[in-house]
Amino acid sequence: PSEFTNPNLEVLYTAEQIKQRVIQLGQQISQDYAGNKNLVLIGILKGSCIFMADLMRAVDLELIIDFMAVSSYKDGTVSSGDIEILKDLTHPIRGKDVIICEDIVDTGLTLFRLTEILGSRGANSIRVATLLDKPETRKKEIKIDYCGFQVPNKFVVGCGLDAAGRYRNLPFIGVVKNPSL
Ligand code: PRP
Ligand code: MN
Ligand code: MG
Repeated sequence: PSEFTNPNLEVLYTAEQIKQRVIQLGQQISQDYAGNKNLVLIGILKGSCIFMADLMRAVDLELIIDFMAVSSYKDGTVSSGDIEILKDLTHPIRGKDVIICEDIVDTGLTLFRLTEILGSRGANSIRVATLLDKPETRKKEIKIDYCGFQVPNKFVVGCGLDAAGRYRNLPFIGVVKNPSL
């Protein structure tokens, strides 16, 4: 059976819509950072993998990339708000202009802590780019500088977003109709 035409999924944003929107974000970043040679795009694994790959190809500037993987402790019953660094950056970010790339901002806890951590390492500036923003579930105020789409409080998957590890490979953003299936 096909995963891309899985009947338990409803398409929210098509691959074409996502492509066009990410190109717009890349153009905005290229304008905002024009002339800057200090830019680092940091992808937060694993969810950001597809957005990061698309976005960096839409940014027409000299830049470097790096990745982090963090765990947010949100599988437990209580969210402590802290995160564990599972994989750290390979380059120092002191003095750098950082754009953190996420697939989704949900409670905001992951980005809240990440901006604290990266700020304490002496980044010159930190901005946030996210493919999706789910504002209804926010617990921490986060300034999002570049946002693809705002989504309703539904179980969204695809383009890097998973449900227990599944669906990251979908080329579109879908809503899982019945999460228990
Ligand atoms: C998801 C998502 C964001 C974070 C957003 O990652 O990719 O990184 O949660 O949630 P928050 O705003 O409530 O903190 P997850 O921890 O599921 O890891 P993954 O990227 O490997 O799927
Ligand atoms: Mn993630
Ligand atoms: Mg996840």
